[in-house]
Amino acid sequence: MSEYRYPQGSVLYRNLHRSYPLIKAGRGSYLYDVTGKKYLDGSGGAAVVNIGHGVSAVAAALSRQAGRAAYLNGVQFTHEPVEKLAAAVASFLPFPGGRILFLTSGSEAIEASIKLARQYWVERGKPEKYRVISLSPSYHGNTLAALSLSARKHYQEAFRPLLFKSTKIPAPYCYRCPWELVPSRCGLKCALELENAIYKLGREKVSAFIGEVIGGSSTGASVPPREYWKTIRRICDRNNVLLIADEVMTGAGRTGKWLACQHFGLVPDIVVMGKGLTSGYFPLSAVAAKKGLLDVIRKTGRNFLHAQTFAHHPVGCAAALATLEYLKGHDLIARCASVGRELKHKLEGLLDHPHVGDVRGKGLLIGVEFVKNKKKRTPFAREQKYVEAFVAQALARGLVLWPNIGHADGTNGDLVMVAPPFVITEDEISLIHEKIELTLIDMERKF
Ligand SMILES: Cc1ncc(COP(=O)(O)O)c(C=O)c1O
Repeated sequence: MSEYRYPQGSVLYRNLHRSYPLIKAGRGSYLYDVTGKKYLDGSGGAAVVNIGHGVSAVAAALSRQAGRAAYLNGVQFTHEPVEKLAAAVASFLPFPGGRILFLTSGSEAIEASIKLARQYWVERGKPEKYRVISLSPSYHGNTLAALSLSARKHYQEAFRPLLFKSTKIPAPYCYRCPWELVPSRCGLKCALELENAIYKLGREKVSAFIGEVIGGSSTGASVPPREYWKTIRRICDRNNVLLIADEVMTGAGRTGKWLACQHFGLVPDIVVMGKGLTSGYFPLSAVAAKKGLLDVIRKTGRNFLHAQTFAHHPVGCAAALATLEYLKGHDLIARCASVGRELKHKLEGLLDHPHVGDVRGKGLLIGVEFVKNKKKRTPFAREQKYVEAFVAQALARGLVLWPNIGHADGTNGDLVMVAPPFVITEDEISLIHEKIELTLIDMERKF
């Protein structure tokens, strides 16, 4: 049966040139449209759906809380879901006694994290510290400050006059190392660039460094060398710069541990989470900070100067709490690690295909990068829209993947993220592999 595509009506879809399949339900790793066509959710949406679709325990928790008190103003009241959720999140943070603010989107939480870092320095009597250094490529969100910190040319171009100037250093994206060094013998040149950047800006001006601990879509799940984050931490400490870990995509188990920081023994000052925190059952994000940062503000008699209507949303907190309990109860993070190894191993088998340049990642966050010339790692020309064709072809075969472009040089570069729910079965893993391989064969005929 062919899928039903809803004609564009009054909804402002991001893509103004296409129509979308109309989904009726989701169960486990599958989505079903109104014609009964099923889609294997190979990307968990946007690397969000960690526990799978249609989990009734989470739906019931949402509904219970909505029936009790759906909304409470976070500056007037507290409630059990937020207190319990904060304790649950604090238990897996890499620092003791963390304080957590719950917001809605990842972008908002990123903005709040850089404001918190900035206010910390203001309260410490260092108001000249405001610059934030980030990575390139990177993605921290689409609101103006988060977009300023991101290195995504195609998202930024039209909005340049609205964005603030930010300093970027090369991301630990070893497949495309700007110095063409080999990870085992590179001396972590990309990490050392942070010290150069701080020196150029003046350490008295730099408030924070922010980075995705394991790359998200912008580098196709690039995993930094083992010592990378220790080096970054040392540089931040030496220069009085706060370290913000963007775990919006990697947090809540996606890389096979509660936080990607744990793979590197990294202790950041602030951790930002989103996406998988509720597995998509409700929009909820979090900014978790070391207690010491808040103590500095508290001692001045002032408050953290950031309020949002939907902060600490009771229904969102209940959804997150139920999601975290489900992850624990079903041992899904350990499952993510083991099933992720198997999926990565299978996908590495695709490296024999002429278009597959690299397969990388950790847990169930895997990137497959496509290239025109494997030896030279030359990307396809952007006008060819390789990954758009790839993803459409995979969807026609009933597999959902998440594309990204531009990572090779800001404009060119094609990759897909494979990030299914942690409940994915071994048969479904084989199916993902098979559908990607068949799509590659189609693409090899066309490109
Ligand atoms: C690493 C990272 N940070 C921040 C964001 C922004 O999150 P949101 O889209 O919820 O605003 C994203 C979204 O993809 C992300 O991957």
